[in-house]
Amino acid sequence: MSVQRTLSIIKPDATRRNLTGAINNKIEKAGLRIIAQKRIKLSKEQAGIFYLVHKERPFYDELCDFMASEPIVVQILEGEDAILVNRKVMGATNPVEAEAGTIRKEFALSIGENSVHGSDGETTAAFEISYFFSGLELVG
Ligand code: CMP
Repeated sequence: MSVQRTLSIIKPDATRRNLTGAINNKIEKAGLRIIAQKRIKLSKEQAGIFYLVHKERPFYDELCDFMASEPIVVQILEGEDAILVNRKVMGATNPVEAEAGTIRKEFALSIGENSVHGSDGETTAAFEISYFFSGLELVG
């Protein structure tokens, strides 16, 4: 166990339905601390760079359009094993497969409009945090 930081995104389907507080409540109840947070709107190009790892997937274009469609909330979560803990509280990518009580089970609309994103490993987390936040914004 070690204290980690992970990047979390509250996606357009959730910000549109005013679910930021409800999702933050689940994150905090899971023992994670939101140490940085901001509401922004991505261009399609910015979304495309963030999701470059999925460039060859059939859903890439749709994913980028969706992520640029309305505001998102980007946040850094900190805690013991934060990457894994956040992935547990998010639930499976496809809400149909997500466990009861998870964010995606309760709020996601579909596999594409699945309410939240979370880093999947330490290297990804470092890249994703630096994509949205400067060192000056990390006040703890
Ligand atoms: P996320 O955790 O943000 O990482 C990549 C995203 O691609 C994923 O959540 C889903 O929102 C999206 N995604 C994955 N599979 C599909 C799919 N089959 N159709 C549409 N979007 C998908």
